[in-house]
Amino acid sequence: MRRKLAAGNWKMNGLTAQLAEVEALCAAHPSPSVDLLIAPPATLVSSMVVTASDHALDVAGQDCHPESSGAHTGDISAEMLKDAGASHVILGHSERREDHNESDDIVRRKTRAALDAGLKVVICIGESLEEREAANTLDIIAGQLAGSLPDVLTGENTVIAYEPIWAIGTGKVPTLAQISEVHTFIRAKLEARYGEGVGRSIRLLYGGSVKPANASDIFAVPDVDGALVGGASLKAEDFSAIIKALENAA
Ligand code: 13P
Repeated sequence: MRRKLAAGNWKMNGLTAQLAEVEALCAAHPSPSVDLLIAPPATLVSSMVVTASDHALDVAGQDCHPESSGAHTGDISAEMLKDAGASHVILGHSERREDHNESDDIVRRKTRAALDAGLKVVICIGESLEEREAANTLDIIAGQLAGSLPDVLTGENTVIAYEPIWAIGTGKVPTLAQISEVHTFIRAKLEARYGEGVGRSIRLLYGGSVKPANASDIFAVPDVDGALVGGASLKAEDFSAIIKALENAA
């Protein structure tokens, strides 16, 4: 019942020439059986929207400000992303939480702003290595869910990405049992807070060192509805292999 989603997060990577990878990706997937999303840097949002305009590929921002306009030099509002043609925004990525001291409260305010502007959100949560080693993973996840999510959301407008910080860009991947434990826990928390119908309809992505070589195994885990892919989303060939693995799992 939940359509699978392959999402790419380009982070602070990509100049105009990188759009050739999106052209190649679109050509390789003219009618994908899963949803496709890429979050380029803000400078490429509108040009990627044009590149992908005839294709089933949505474009996301990587962050937005909690307010819709005002004196916030360097920031971008949800309305601006929407105006540029984005359909989604990633919020609460661990790199934003760390580099910009983003708290759960800020993430929740940004989420509300994004939903109000008509954007869909991909909200990221995940534990650090110290937290996992201290056996605190599920407490951390529960706290981030409670604090980062607004009281009203739907499966249509919200995706949750579980990204253990220690797996991001490191080549280290949790065991399938560890991924399964956290995704099952997140699902139960969502059902308890939003009711079974909404809780079951929210898609859960896994993120952190997803590659063509490990994608099929990860996608076989119950309650993994797709992936949020960093490095491997920059090359059409790699992202395409991950998309195919997801299509085969769907
Ligand atoms: P990597 O796939 O490069 O580990 O990045 C994951 C990530 O942070 C996606 O948001």
